[in-house]
Parts: sequence; C-alpha cells; structure tokens
Amino acid sequence: MDISNKDFNHLSQLIYSESGINIHEGKIELLKSKIAKRMRSTKIHSCHDYLQYLAENKDEIIEFIDTVTTNHSFFFRENTSVQKMIDALSLENRSRKRTFNIWCAACSTGDEPYSVAIQMLEQGLVFSILATDISHSVLDTAIRGVYSQERVKNVPVPVLHKYFQKGTGKKTGCVRVKKEVMNHIEFKKFNLVSDSIPKERFDVILCRNVMIYFDDPTAENVVNRLYHALKNGGFFIIGQAESLMSLDHKFKSVKNTPSTFQK
Ligand SMILES: C[S@@+](CC[C@H](N)C(=O)[O-])C[C@H]1O[C@@H](n2cnc3c(N)ncnc32)[C@H](O)[C@@H]1O
Repeated sequence: MDISNKDFNHLSQLIYSESGINIHEGKIELLKSKIAKRMRSTKIHSCHDYLQYLAENKDEIIEFIDTVTTNHSFFFRENTSVQKMIDALSLENRSRKRTFNIWCAACSTGDEPYSVAIQMLEQGLVFSILATDISHSVLDTAIRGVYSQERVKNVPVPVLHKYFQKGTGKKTGCVRVKKEVMNHIEFKKFNLVSDSIPKERFDVILCRNVMIYFDDPTAENVVNRLYHALKNGGFFIIGQAESLMSLDHKFKSVKNTPSTFQK
C-alpha cells in the first residue's frame, strides 16, 4: 500500500490530536498495517477512500485510534514499585484504618488493576480501583477477565489458585479472575489527554507504559493533570522505561523506590 507524505502527515496529526500518541516517520509501515486492518473491517478497498471515510466519520476515528494503540500488558508486570507502594499503604493503614482510592490510568486489558487488587486483598486492605483506558476493545477484555496462561505466568502459584478460576470447555488453558477481585474495580473509557479528570482524589495513580508513546509537551500535560487528581502525599507510579526528568512537574521522587513519585 502506498501512502503520500501529505496523507501520512494528516493521519499522524489526527492521531496526535485525538490521543496524544506520537507517530513519527519511522512508524510509517506500522501505520500502513493499521490502515489495512481498518480497510478490511470497513470493506473499503482503497487507502484514499478509507482516508476520506475517516475524515467524515467520528465513529471511525474512535475505531482507528483503538487500532493504533499498543496494548501489551501482563499480570505482575514491573511489580517492585507496586509492592513498595502497597507496603507503604499497609504501614499507613496500621495507624489509621481507611479505604484507599486507586486509579490505573492506562489499564489496557486489565492485567494491571487486577494485579494491584489481588495484592491489596492479600494485605487485607480496603480499597476501590478506577481502571481507565482510551481503547474500548481492551476495556471489553478487562471486563471479561479471561486470560491465557502466558499472561499470568508471573503470578505466584498459590495466589493464582486463590484468585483465579480454571477455564473449562472452550476456555481450557485459560483462567478467569474471580468476582471477589472484580468487585473492587470499575472500568471506564477515559482519554488522558482530553477528558476532564475525575472529581474524586486518589491515594495512588498508576500511569505506566503509556507516556512512552507521548512527546514531552503531551506527557507534561498528562503528568500535571494527574498531579491534581492525587491527594497530598499520594503516590504516582510510572513505567520503568519512562522518566519525568525532562518534564516540568511538582512531584518528589520516592527514595529507593523505582518509578515512584509523591505529591
Ligand atoms: C502498553 S499499554 C500499558 C498497560 C499497563 N499500564 C501496563 O503497564 O502494563 C498502554 C495503554 O495506554 C492506552 N492509551 C494510549 N493513549 C491513551 C490516552 N490518550 N488516554 C488513555 N489511554 C491511552 C492504550 O490504549 C494502551 O492500552
């Protein structure tokens, strides 16, 4: 498939303004494969016609952004920062029992909020989790809560037996998260770049492995919006491959704890 420079620039601008995702010229082949995927779904046979269709259909923009997002995730990913955060909450809970409010702000298929919920339950903490993503298809997967063995291979075996059911029939080889974990999580569509931040204030916000797709001005805007959504003293956790170094922000980094900041 051929795509002109003008069409490439137009499309990457559209993706950037809708989602903050920065598609540079090195990603042209990736973009072409995403267009081809949407052309098959919409049964449109030329790239030119598809771009025309995209320009005229708000719903197709949503589907296209959904296709463009990278949703890779797995249970207990980069878990040291989560463990340390839960240790800090447990300590706090000993002096003052309360309900912790957590936001997983780019939750993808749910692996992250379920991993946090399981570990909070293991510590006997009371909590609720808001889990959001821009992509509706990953949220559908998250709400189903069914995963392959590959995705849960980092979950310690006793924990796996306690919080997951084994699939049967067509789902043999898969596991499903138990209701007692699901009941703590509300999944919602939310665009980090443009949606108004929730009114409630959070004890912890995880925003991991999404800012790598943003340029600095977008990441800075997101970080500062999330700063306002945290309670004073609340924790902000980013991905291991991410950094706040080049951004203007008010967070303090937490000593000896990877990728963790505090308001
Ligand atoms: C690689 S996944 C990270 C999932 C999880 N946080 C983890 O670390 O395993 C990145 C997620 O960010 C979401 N995303 C991308 N742009 C977004 C935006 N503007 N607002 C909200 N979510 C976004 C994608 O849909 C994708 O599910």
